[in-house]
Amino acid sequence: MGTIARLDDVTLAFGDRIILKNCSLEIVEGAVTCIVGLSGAGKSTILRLLDGLLIPQEGHVYVRDRDICHLSEGQANELRRKISLAFQFAALLDSLTVGENVELPLREIPHLSAAEVRRMALDALESVGLAHTFDNLPSELSGGMLKRAGFARAVVTSPELVLYDEPTTGLDPIVTHLITETIVKLRDRLNGTAVVISHDLQSIFMMADYVAMLFEGAIIAYDTAANIRSSRNPIVQQFLQGSEVGPIPI
Ligand SMILES: Nc1ncnc2c1ncn2[C@@H]1O[C@H](COP(=O)(O)OP(=O)(O)OP(=O)(O)O)[C@@H](O)[C@H]1O
Ligand SMILES: [Mg+2]
Repeated sequence: MGTIARLDDVTLAFGDRIILKNCSLEIVEGAVTCIVGLSGAGKSTILRLLDGLLIPQEGHVYVRDRDICHLSEGQANELRRKISLAFQFAALLDSLTVGENVELPLREIPHLSAAEVRRMALDALESVGLAHTFDNLPSELSGGMLKRAGFARAVVTSPELVLYDEPTTGLDPIVTHLITETIVKLRDRLNGTAVVISHDLQSIFMMADYVAMLFEGAIIAYDTAANIRSSRNPIVQQFLQGSEVGPIPI
């Protein structure tokens, strides 16, 4: 399988705080890659790099063999149409209905009829059990429902690469399962690539083809989900077991 995106020897600092140091990671096309690591390790920062929202001080970020650190504005916009970033599912617009919000990314695609746009938005909402909220305003939804609607909006265009930042945090187990299944479905039906940040180990091992662990600025373990689960790396083991005892400083 090919690589759709990669971080190559990236160093990124905010001021004099180095967050990523010589960090490399390959994202396999058509697979679900989960990034795990301690809070504040720099996981969301990696997603921002992949989306071109941050530029590293050193190293390169490639999407489809193109160095995305030096794109014109037009090229960057074209890239964003292929990549969908679901940052903790950004807020919906209050003045539009849920359905209209989910339809928004489709409006940029030429030659789609109004009926097709509506059907695709309904399908996306259906996948998270929210088709019935199509005509509601966001203010009428619960926090978890808003998150699911944000998920629907992120996947409605079936992007080649979707970056999910904690898609299930704070959701009940049933909705967590729905969203996890939808990520897997997008991979299986459309060969969609996903990079998912999650702290939910059960959900991770349900969907992940590959798991990467970020620790002290670099990816210290990367392997198939099964191999990570049985990894002998003491840092990985301590993290998966949630143990206070081990090499990870508390
Ligand atoms: N724009 C910014 N300016 C300054 N510091 C930042 C900025 N964005 C992130 N940081 C810092 O970089 C570090 C990594 O942040 P990041 O959000 O990538 O962590 P994370 O692994 O996603 O954590 P969490 O699991 O809590 O979401 C944190 O210490 C954070 O405070
Ligand atoms: Mg984060």
